[in-house]
Amino acid sequence: MGSFDELEQIREQALADLMGASATPALEAWEDRYLGRRGEITLRARTVGQLPQEDRPAFGQRVNEIKRLLLQAYEARAEEISHAELESQLATEAIDVTLPGRPVIPGHLHLTTQALRELYAIFSKMGFEVYEAPDVELEAYNFDLLNIPEYHPARDMWDTFWVKETGEGPGDRRLLRTHTSPGQIRAMRERCPEPIRVILPGKCYRYEQITVRAEHQFYQLEGLAVGRGITMTDLIGTIAQFARMFYGPDRTVRVRGSYFPFTEPSIEVDTECILCGGKGCPVCKYTGWLEVAGAGMVHPVVLENGGYDPEAWSGFAFGFGVERPSMMKYNVQDIRWFYGNDLRFLRRF
Ligand code: PHE
Repeated sequence: MGSFDELEQIREQALADLMGASATPALEAWEDRYLGRRGEITLRARTVGQLPQEDRPAFGQRVNEIKRLLLQAYEARAEEISHAELESQLATEAIDVTLPGRPVIPGHLHLTTQALRELYAIFSKMGFEVYEAPDVELEAYNFDLLNIPEYHPARDMWDTFWVKETGEGPGDRRLLRTHTSPGQIRAMRERCPEPIRVILPGKCYRYEQITVRAEHQFYQLEGLAVGRGITMTDLIGTIAQFARMFYGPDRTVRVRGSYFPFTEPSIEVDTECILCGGKGCPVCKYTGWLEVAGAGMVHPVVLENGGYDPEAWSGFAFGFGVERPSMMKYNVQDIRWFYGNDLRFLRRF
């Protein structure tokens, strides 16, 4: 009867082990150990031939019963385990859809682009269209045709980056434009003999020491109006209107005499300091005024170079830096930050 006892022991042990298996790998090992091809029950079934003849049927029957019983128990346990595993997976991998999402930081327009677009909007309301001219210019357009011949002392006002490739003759040399004024000549030559009302935005380059106040590249916005009977009053009115739209409705402007070779007369336009309103502060260096633009009536020589008869036509022009006003508006203390590519600065705007 030893074999029968042993069989029952195996059954008990197997059921106890089964309850102890709490995950799929342990369950698989259990199945291998008891019911597999070399499992305890399978091996035991093969020993039937060693038993006395009369015990064999009962033994065989009992082995089959136990096998069935263990299989049932195994399937029930497998069901329990896979259920429990699914539960715990759902619990640990649960996503709380009510939590706020991670913020997406979209890119945005560069401060200069924002300023330029604001300027386009203001001037388009006054009937100006945008006219673009090249960054790499001919010496003739940047200087000679603007009434600044070679050796004219006024060339010292614009320290120049020259492009190595040289042109054929005088005036043909190439340079990086030092101001947007050469676009005046291009616009006039293209539009003549029509009247003109354009703004010319663009990057300008100067061979200068870089400081907190001066970069060697910066944007300018030029304005040009050519027509019959255009006067200084039109110029001052246009800039005053611009100052009100850009800096605030209560701005007044003042005009000072100045000098540019391509305008006659030339003026400098100031507006009351936007920070202190004219009382005096560090931004306006305690003068109460901020420079808005260089300007003047288009010089007869320049009109002629553009194709217009200065006896019949007149015009005004103005030009100013685009970064400066933003610096004043947002209290930016260092012009180098504009193109320094430091995201901590760029993201502020
Ligand atoms: N081009 C001048 C400068 O760069 C500004 C200016 C433009 C002055 C148009 C008068 C008329 O300083």
